[in-house]
Amino acid sequence: MDSDTEYIAGMDQISRSGEGKRYHLITFGCQMNEHDSEIMAGILENIGFEAVADLSEADLIVINTCAVRKKPEEKVGGLLGKLKPLKEQKRDLVIAVGGCMTQQAELAQYIKQRFSHVNLIFGTHSLTHFPQLLEEAIIKGGTVVDLEENQDLREGLPIRRTDRYKAWLPIIYGCNNFCSYCVVPYVRGRERSRPLEDIVNEAHSLAREGYLELTLLGQNVNSYGQDRPETYDFADLLLELDKVDGISRIRFMTSHPKDLSPRLIETVARGGKICEHFHLPVQSGSNRILEVMNRRYTREHYLDLIRDIKLQIPGVAVTSDIIVGFPGETEYDYLDTMQLLEAARFDNAFTFIYSPRRGTKAAEMTDHEPRAQKERRLQKLSEIQQRISLDLNRELVDLVVEVLVEGRSKSNPVMLSGRTRTNKLVHFPSTLELTGRLVPVKICEARTWNLIGEEAG
Ligand code: 5AD
Ligand code: SF4
Repeated sequence: MDSDTEYIAGMDQISRSGEGKRYHLITFGCQMNEHDSEIMAGILENIGFEAVADLSEADLIVINTCAVRKKPEEKVGGLLGKLKPLKEQKRDLVIAVGGCMTQQAELAQYIKQRFSHVNLIFGTHSLTHFPQLLEEAIIKGGTVVDLEENQDLREGLPIRRTDRYKAWLPIIYGCNNFCSYCVVPYVRGRERSRPLEDIVNEAHSLAREGYLELTLLGQNVNSYGQDRPETYDFADLLLELDKVDGISRIRFMTSHPKDLSPRLIETVARGGKICEHFHLPVQSGSNRILEVMNRRYTREHYLDLIRDIKLQIPGVAVTSDIIVGFPGETEYDYLDTMQLLEAARFDNAFTFIYSPRRGTKAAEMTDHEPRAQKERRLQKLSEIQQRISLDLNRELVDLVVEVLVEGRSKSNPVMLSGRTRTNKLVHFPSTLELTGRLVPVKICEARTWNLIGEEAG
């Protein structure tokens, strides 16, 4: 790949320092983090490291952390605790911790003090000098901490992709929205859009490498281009990518309801490769809560968007994220969310209990509601959503859908698994040579989380 041979800061001095050594990489969190891990893996393999599946055989363990809620942070704590005896047995083992959690100075310090067996702590902006940091950590001993402030676009870094047919393609980094509960703007910095030509070029080279599906990534893809001197926007980018030969599907996530334009809906409706799926987090159905969350739209505006999307794009799927138990959420606010769920009829909704995040506005708000109450609300919401998901899946029975086959099903070896254009998981019996192909499949059975089908003749 072209980008492999491009410049990485300092690569010339330390070019093959990983020769003969093995790394194991563990990733928490969202797709952007998964893609960052693909870059870390690319950098490591460029300097000679080889991936190893068994943690205990690694010379280097890298953990890419997530800070969006407390749970993934706790998991990292647990994991680091477990690695201590391994490090004691194997003094040369290098442990590196990076990502959104460690981009926060207090947490980086906490990890340094609490887990002194960690050799390197780095943030989300440190990727460009990852090899030097590793080198420094190996030579210096102790714990090297690097929380780079400079928010680069990080073009030209090597990438070791996990999938063969589906590729992540970041288009905009960071977030300017400052939703009051969210830590992302603090750990990922301000919005930086990649130049359109660079994204289109990367899409062409992915097509040449045999990738069929691209997922455009950004905390808010709808603000793509707004920070650039050029006049293009997200719809323009989609139209350009729609022309890339060899690519069959283009997905994107995440969309912010406040800036999802009518032109974008129209572009998705007309685009050939652009998949009929919006991930459009609503977060709450209560206007009062939406305001305190600083979401800058109302439930009415949101439901209008859903209506327009469904009217203009036949067969579209809409998924969402919802937070329950936001500070001050009353039973009335919660009922509004329940009603919105019934009105919007999402194909799927990811529901979370609010988790206070250091440094955010919401973390300073008083939060009286008992945990058990929040859990009850979460449970009820997911029951409603499961019923709706199943209902919508049932509408697909007897229809023929296009499935991009990913390989053998994890739960049943005679079945293959893949996804529809609307991102629904389909299992059907067939043989492995269909992997990486777009196959017409007739749906025979609908379940809440997936569909069962058979090859359509
Ligand atoms: N608590 C709970 N959920 C959160 N999310 C973001 N921040 C928090 C938080 N502090 C959820 C939102 C977002 C998704 C990625 O994670 O629903 O859309
Ligand atoms: Fe967080 Fe809001 Fe930005 Fe999404 S749009 S990353 S929820 S601040």
